[in-house]
Amino acid sequence: MNPFYKSTYRTFATLLIIVVALFSGSRDASSQTILNTKSTSLLLQVEKGSRPQFVYYGARLFETDLPAALANAGKCFDAYPARLSNTAHPDALSVMMPDGGVTTDLQTESVQEGTWDGGHTLDIVCKDPLYPFFRVTLHYRSYTEEDIIEMWTDIFNSGNNNIMLHRYDSAFLPIPEGNVWMSSLQGGWADECHVYEEPLTRGTREISEHNGVRNSATAHSEVMFSLDGKPQENEGRVIGAVLCYGGNFEMRIITRYDGYHRFFAGISPRDAWYTLSKREVFTTPKVAFTYSENGLGGASRHFHRWARKYMLCHGGQPGDILLNSWEGVYMNIQEDQMEQMARDIADLGGELFVIDDGWFGSTKYPRDHDRQGLGDWEVLSQKLPNGLQNMAQRCRQAGVKFGIWIEPEMVNTQSELYEKHPDWVLNAHGRELAAGRGGTQMMLDLCNPAVQDYVVSVVDKILRQAPDIAYIKWDCNNYMRSPGSPYLKNPNHLAIEYMRGLTQVLNRIRAAYPDVAMQLCAGGGARVNWGLLPWFDEFWTSDNTDALQRLRIQWGTSFFFPAEAMACHVSASPNHQTGRIIPLKYRIDVAMTGRMGFELQPADISQEERDICRQAVSDYKTIRQTVQCGDLYRLVSPFDKKGIASLMYCSEDKKQAAFFWYRTEYYRGDHPAQVPLRGLNPDLLYKVTELNKVDGNPVSALDGKIVSGQFLMSNGFLFPEKESYQGGHNDWHSHVIRLDAIISLKK
Ligand code: DGJ
Repeated sequence: MNPFYKSTYRTFATLLIIVVALFSGSRDASSQTILNTKSTSLLLQVEKGSRPQFVYYGARLFETDLPAALANAGKCFDAYPARLSNTAHPDALSVMMPDGGVTTDLQTESVQEGTWDGGHTLDIVCKDPLYPFFRVTLHYRSYTEEDIIEMWTDIFNSGNNNIMLHRYDSAFLPIPEGNVWMSSLQGGWADECHVYEEPLTRGTREISEHNGVRNSATAHSEVMFSLDGKPQENEGRVIGAVLCYGGNFEMRIITRYDGYHRFFAGISPRDAWYTLSKREVFTTPKVAFTYSENGLGGASRHFHRWARKYMLCHGGQPGDILLNSWEGVYMNIQEDQMEQMARDIADLGGELFVIDDGWFGSTKYPRDHDRQGLGDWEVLSQKLPNGLQNMAQRCRQAGVKFGIWIEPEMVNTQSELYEKHPDWVLNAHGRELAAGRGGTQMMLDLCNPAVQDYVVSVVDKILRQAPDIAYIKWDCNNYMRSPGSPYLKNPNHLAIEYMRGLTQVLNRIRAAYPDVAMQLCAGGGARVNWGLLPWFDEFWTSDNTDALQRLRIQWGTSFFFPAEAMACHVSASPNHQTGRIIPLKYRIDVAMTGRMGFELQPADISQEERDICRQAVSDYKTIRQTVQCGDLYRLVSPFDKKGIASLMYCSEDKKQAAFFWYRTEYYRGDHPAQVPLRGLNPDLLYKVTELNKVDGNPVSALDGKIVSGQFLMSNGFLFPEKESYQGGHNDWHSHVIRLDAIISLKK
């Protein structure tokens, strides 16, 4: 159709539909407010003097669809349900007013629509006519290209008396009941991010974490809802939700008789009723939503793109290949040995050497074991006699950058810091000290500004004495075991004030040291969340470096977090956590799917193994950009017990891809199904290069061949069983294949 007629026709059709909708008694289309991204829409009804209504969240709506979306919306929901009178529905906001009233009626006062570089904003200011000093602003922000919409609120007390917040969620989303399944991540130390799938049934399902500071220690504040039945990787409608908060959280899915799952997400109000004083604004953390019709994988790719562009510190700049000293020497740090390790990683082609725990302490409390030293951040002269800057220079001479481990939120009772400031630790008033690791580790009270200054000064001191430090690993091996702050007046504010204190500290550090790369660690992945990651470049995915178990841990982590941030290190065999013996190739092949690094003593490996590592590093560099900043396609899940796991990354322009395949279980005679690839351009011809070949021999017959994207996406690779693979280790078959686009089949 001629474009002029087409647009006239569309306008006419829109008008017609609106007129029909208005006269057929459906909801008023005039007050609709829409927030669009490239492929999604959020539709609200907002009218002055009424409560803002949620209408729709899902696939992108076009003008002609709006009346249909309104008519089809079914039940009306307040966009941010507060505890109303005359209803017993669950709420996102529940407060007690100065007069003891506990109901709230949030009516729209004003609406502001705006734009920002990446999309649009919508701010709806609501006021309760009975309590005009109480205002809640509902904030919405869209990321057009990434298909993300964030929601959060500002809760404002303009009166002269305190208001008590009993619940103060960030966001609410109703999802029509049906065959809806939820995927969530659960785990524990060395077993992070196990993927759990469950159908949503009637009742209340809560996902929460209440340890104060390690909010992904067991549960995670991110979920996916598959709307078309059992979760699928590449098909079906999925809503993903990510609460961007590092502290205690609560996600609730409440399903009642009325045909909807109500999803709420926010800071956990448990032990945290918040007193909103006069003129105070309480800003809730953001929840980022996405919607995809390409299954879980589609939703993950949206989150990854958003994370790389807007959330991660230095996002989009691939991380260095590093050697971390922890599993190599633990706390036995010796200067010459450290220098040798730096030379070794340089020899392998790496770019950074990191000294982990054990380099600091005081003369009285040297950090020779985990019972002492935290808090006394002096360089131990018996370990590094020439200090940190000298070490950094030695690393530079060796050809790599230098990084250091710290755990500045913590203190051992066996430290000079604790002796000087026993009132700086968190502990319940009147109770015996509840210490963690080593029986002596306590958390510092970051609610106290003097302690915040101290923590900033720890980093300052280290980076001033050694300005060439390029990387900091920030660890956190404890949680609020015995909640109580000697500084805070209101114990209900502890968990929130701690996170505020930490935020202040991180803001100050980032303002002073914007270029230093930082890794977020909490005994592995107990702090992997989008509340804290914006100050960090990456996270330590797990203390478990067993490659087989890492396949699962990394798989679950990849639901919401991009490979660029996921530190994956090749470690020794037998593995230090599980005792499993795994061939080097398999360990390398697994580490290559994230930010690859090493966590071993290079002096302990053979010359042959060194050569394999050197080649692997060199090959990894050819796919690093694609792995760390490309689109992930998860192909076969290690949780599905199919005997294999497989995934791949494609560069955004689809000119390069990296394909990974692993045996997860082996029985002679079992022939796993071929895995068709995804995400390639069907019209491009790709050159196939197998990486990390054993003895230089490829397993795939396609190695070196030119193959179309279409062929690979219809067929995949055939990996025949080899009689004596890796000295008979058939159970450890793994393959890495790089695809480079050579030419297009289309003119
Ligand atoms: C826990 C971390 O996860 C490890 O990698 C290591 O840094 C130790 N702490 C050091 O104490």
